[in-house]
Amino acid sequence: MKPILIALLFVASVACTTQIYAPTEANVNKVQPATLAELQQGHDLFQSKCGKCHKLPNPGKHSKDDWTKILGKMAPKAKLSTDQSDLVYKYVVNN
Ligand code: HEC
Repeated sequence: MKPILIALLFVASVACTTQIYAPTEANVNKVQPATLAELQQGHDLFQSKCGKCHKLPNPGKHSKDDWTKILGKMAPKAKLSTDQSDLVYKYVVNN
C-alpha cells in the first residue's frame, strides 16, 4: 500500500474516536459541585447517549455557558431526563 493511503486510513480511524476523560478525584468540584459518583454517571450517560448522531463532542471544547445552551438543545434529542442532563452537565464542565 502507498504511504499516503496508510496515512489517510490512520487519520480516518483517529477522527472516528473521541477520547473523553475518565473522572477522578481531581475533577470533583473543579468547576461545579459534583461528587465522583455523579461524574461517573455523567460520563457513562454522555458516552452512551451523546455519540449516536455525531461523534462525541470534546468536553473541554465548550465553555460552561455553551454547555448550558448545548444541553438545552441536545438533552431532548438524547431523551435525557432533567436529572440525567444535569449529570452530563456536571461531567462535561468539570473536565
Ligand atoms: C437525535 C440525534 C442527536 C443526539 C442523540 C445528540 N445530538 Fe448533538 N447534535 C445533533 C445535531 C443534528 C446537531 C447539529 C445541529 C444542531 O446544532 O442542532 C448536533 C450538534 C451538537 C453539538 C455542536 C453544537 C455547537 O453549537 O457547536 C454538540 C456540542 C452536541 N451536539 C452535543 C450533544 C450532547 C452532549 C448530546 C447528549 C446529551 C447530544 N449532542 C446528543 C443531534 C444529536
